Amino acid sequence: MEILVILAIVFAVWLVWKYWTLSLGAGFDPTPMNKVYKMLNLARVSKDDILYDLGSGDGRIVITAAKRCGAHAVGIEADPFRFFFSWFLVLLLGESKKIKMRFGNFFKKKINDATVVTVFLYGPTNNKLKSKFQKELKPGTRVVSYIWTFDDWELEDCIPEDNIYLYVIK
Ligand SMILES: C[S@@+](CC[C@H](N)C(=O)[O-])C[C@H]1O[C@@H](n2cnc3c(N)ncnc32)[C@H](O)[C@@H]1O
Repeated sequence: MEILVILAIVFAVWLVWKYWTLSLGAGFDPTPMNKVYKMLNLARVSKDDILYDLGSGDGRIVITAAKRCGAHAVGIEADPFRFFFSWFLVLLLGESKKIKMRFGNFFKKKINDATVVTVFLYGPTNNKLKSKFQKELKPGTRVVSYIWTFDDWELEDCIPEDNIYLYVIK
């Protein structure tokens, strides 16, 4: 009986940890690595890019963008545990010069030096981000979204079978 109570508490804590950020924009669900590669390929990320991952989770997109594509990358994450984990991973990998991890709400952070923005959030959050993107991002900036689209925005390219969508800021 006691073990069941302990398991139920552990499960409840895990659920809260995974989903408390839904109120900010999305819960935690890491993008599968094969999709990360496809997102970066679709956006043609290179060493000349500054990539922002909004809601960077465990840091997999920013780390892959820096290591595979040579890009500079910035991750913004509101969950303290995920932020610390990714910050520490970047330190361990010796990529702190190329990758900056920022703690906090991406709606409140400036992203105007981005040339590529990646998001795996939630449909309503994508739509809420549209005005920030229009205000802060330079024309030509690529925005890649996994799973969710941006209502009324014209697609530049996509991989429909992988739910990966590319937009370019006009
Ligand atoms: C679905 S996960 C994606 C994680 C990572 N980008 C990936 O693709 O593997 C969404 C992440 O966004 C974070 N998040 C949600 N709303 C946020 C906000 N307003 N500011 C910063 N991070 C946020 C969550 O904590 C979560 O880690």
